[in-house]
Amino acid sequence: MSTPSSRKPDPTAETADALDSAVAPNRAAASKDPAIPAISIQGLVKSFGNVEVLKNIDLEVMPGQVVCVIGPSGSGKSTLLRCVNMLEEPTAGKIFVGEHEMTDPDVNIDQARRSIGMVFQQFNLFPHLSVLQNLTVAQMKVLKRSKSSAEQTARKNLERVGLAHRETAFPAQLSGGQQQRVAIARSLSMDPDLMLFDEPTSALDPELVGEVLAVMKGLVREGMTMMVVTHEMAFARDVADRVVFMDGGYIVEEGSAERVIGDPQHERTQAFLARVLNPTSVEEGDEFVAAPKPPAGQALPNPALDTHGNAFG
Ligand SMILES: Nc1ncnc2c1ncn2[C@@H]1O[C@H](COP(=O)(O)OP(=O)(O)OP(=O)(O)O)[C@@H](O)[C@H]1O
Ligand SMILES: [Mg+2]
Repeated sequence: MSTPSSRKPDPTAETADALDSAVAPNRAAASKDPAIPAISIQGLVKSFGNVEVLKNIDLEVMPGQVVCVIGPSGSGKSTLLRCVNMLEEPTAGKIFVGEHEMTDPDVNIDQARRSIGMVFQQFNLFPHLSVLQNLTVAQMKVLKRSKSSAEQTARKNLERVGLAHRETAFPAQLSGGQQQRVAIARSLSMDPDLMLFDEPTSALDPELVGEVLAVMKGLVREGMTMMVVTHEMAFARDVADRVVFMDGGYIVEEGSAERVIGDPQHERTQAFLARVLNPTSVEEGDEFVAAPKPPAGQALPNPALDTHGNAFG
């Protein structure tokens, strides 16, 4: 496991340092027991109907580790992440998050999910609530915090993402990057032990990507356990303790960022990275085509408010 000091020099260090000063470095706090994996995925299989989209996945994330998941569209990255907090129910296999077995039918799933923050590509903020209210609603509903205690936690986390001055704004008054930072602050307000990120910057205009990555780097420096699906290879190289390359529902290759991104062994990893790192090299007939989205009627589960206050839809 890397320590913050062993990580690579950080091109956004200035911003990350500023953010860092708002969050006391506290790697130990990220783990209750450093010997117990934060996430342990064992023989995970997930099928939608007859289609097996995750095929016997084994993966472990130790407390304080940052694991970046890369791979072509349709390879199963989001499904893997969603299985971790049981937004998708695995077809076979076991998933442990800390001491909770998520796949145990008797687990208190709401309680188990509370230790997991999740940030999606879409920010899923409530448009009719202010920034502050977006951060307090789930704290009060789910954690039963008083309004003043929820607001105190919310303000601390807005400061953490550099948005203390925008608490009265409504989502529509913010840029995409700011909205995503609010979504991160909202997740942090639930005091998660680990954070799952599913392409948190891919809906953003290029000039807004950096501010969100800087916030995420601040969390890495703080010692947050993170599993991040991303196409930002420079980010993965900078922060990941481990990079996992998925294709066709399998983990094809995993290892250090230097190894997987810098010196990929498998030809599918090589082909994927060639395309991602040099998109203009894609030629007609190349095999990495966008996966078909599920038909509208079979869209992803759609609860109004999950345990982290994420509005879906
Ligand atoms: N709810 C669903 N019902 C049916 N099929 C689904 C559902 N969700 C995902 N799939 C299929 O499972 C496969 C894996 O999808 P997933 O979204 O996990 O891929 P991904 O690697 O995250 O892709 P992307 O990079 O485009 O986000 C795809 O073929 C997708 O069409
Ligand atoms: Mg996805």
